[in-house]
Amino acid sequence: MTAPHTLAVLGLGRMGEAIATRLAAQDWNVVGWTRSGRASGTVEVTGDPNDAVARADLVLLSLFDGPACRQVLDDVRDSLRTDTIVLNTSTIAPDEASELARRLGPSHVHAPVLGSVPAVAAGALRILAAAEQGAFDRARPVLETLGTVRRVDDAATAAALKLIANSSLAGAVLALRDALRQADALGLPRAQVLDVLELGQLGGLVARKRPFLTDPPTAGTAEFTIGALAKDMALLAAASNAPLPVAADLAGTPAGTEADIAVAATVPATDDEVLEPLHAYIRGHATGDPTHFRDAFLPTAHIEGIRDGAFVSWRLGEYCALFQGRPAPDEPTRSRRVDVLGVHGTVATATMTLHHGADTFTDIFLLVRADDGWRIANKAYHRHSSAS
Ligand SMILES: NC(=O)c1ccc[n+]([C@@H]2O[C@H](COP(=O)([O-])OP(=O)(O)OC[C@H]3O[C@@H](n4cnc5c(N)ncnc54)[C@H](OP(=O)(O)O)[C@@H]3O)[C@@H](O)[C@H]2O)c1
Repeated sequence: MTAPHTLAVLGLGRMGEAIATRLAAQDWNVVGWTRSGRASGTVEVTGDPNDAVARADLVLLSLFDGPACRQVLDDVRDSLRTDTIVLNTSTIAPDEASELARRLGPSHVHAPVLGSVPAVAAGALRILAAAEQGAFDRARPVLETLGTVRRVDDAATAAALKLIANSSLAGAVLALRDALRQADALGLPRAQVLDVLELGQLGGLVARKRPFLTDPPTAGTAEFTIGALAKDMALLAAASNAPLPVAADLAGTPAGTEADIAVAATVPATDDEVLEPLHAYIRGHATGDPTHFRDAFLPTAHIEGIRDGAFVSWRLGEYCALFQGRPAPDEPTRSRRVDVLGVHGTVATATMTLHHGADTFTDIFLLVRADDGWRIANKAYHRHSSAS
């Protein structure tokens, strides 16, 4: 098998433009096409994808998602020779990758990539490639121009591994957001915080993305958009059918879909108002004064859990009657902490841990934004007794 001579790069977005540029700089003949007709700064482009495909013996796809891949391949079907290699670097769902592998047969290479625009320019991508031996051998010189290749059994596995890799990236971005929010709450200078974070587990991410993370930021142009990472997390959640909190978190971030993923780490906490009833609830426990519970809860609230082996469901008045208007004798040793808060428009969920003497309680709250502000609509709790 001989290496391809002319490469068509379909999709000249952030990655496609960088890939086309890298390949041309390494002496491949490259012809590019992109849906918008946008010119490339570095490679010859054509306005017709069929023209690009007809001239190429390898067609590289760098498209946003699975539907875009299907659409473009439909459009060029008549120009695609059976021996033309189709090398798909796009991040798509495992079932979409399987479908394309079936449709394109032995000339298909699914090769999702780890690394962003700077890694393309340096030829330092990590590439997960799934293909039959013949297609793999023909695509290999192109892949090795872009980075290091790791062979994977089949297209669906390559696609799934890529989504898993990106779930760790999404988790790291949101862990960084939590660290920056805590640092802001402590009033620490952002530059010092970034210096220290660079020394730790998120150091690589912080170093790469620092211009987006400084206050104010010094970078604007996204290398990898929140929209693309949110797309990947939605694909992963759908494929695994397992809860994936980062999927909702990224999709709902006010940073916007076109911003770089690092901008999601700089979104400040906007939870002050929703915390008010939770703080009133904490004051109720600290003082034993039920007035604070009446401030915290809606009058219709129920407080529910298992007590002495039996399910109890108290109305607010019954719950308030449990408190005597004075702190518990061991109040100085008690502690309470809000662990999780998720706000979704006019509703929210929160989890709190309360250490009360020998007992630890997990309280789970449903909150609503009523006319007069946020209130707890209901609470369910579990008592972890030190005796059990
Ligand atoms: N950026 C990264 O760091 C990175 C890293 C690894 C993997 N990836 C993956 O690589 C792929 C490309 O990412 P990117 O960052 O380059 O995205 P991008 O900048 O948004 O570019 C997307 C490309 O897809 C084209 N496109 C979108 N919808 C289309 C449709 N329906 N029909 C035809 N073309 C369509 C766009 O065309 P026009 O803009 O010309 O309309 C553009 O060329 C994605 O799958 C992404 O998840 C990205």
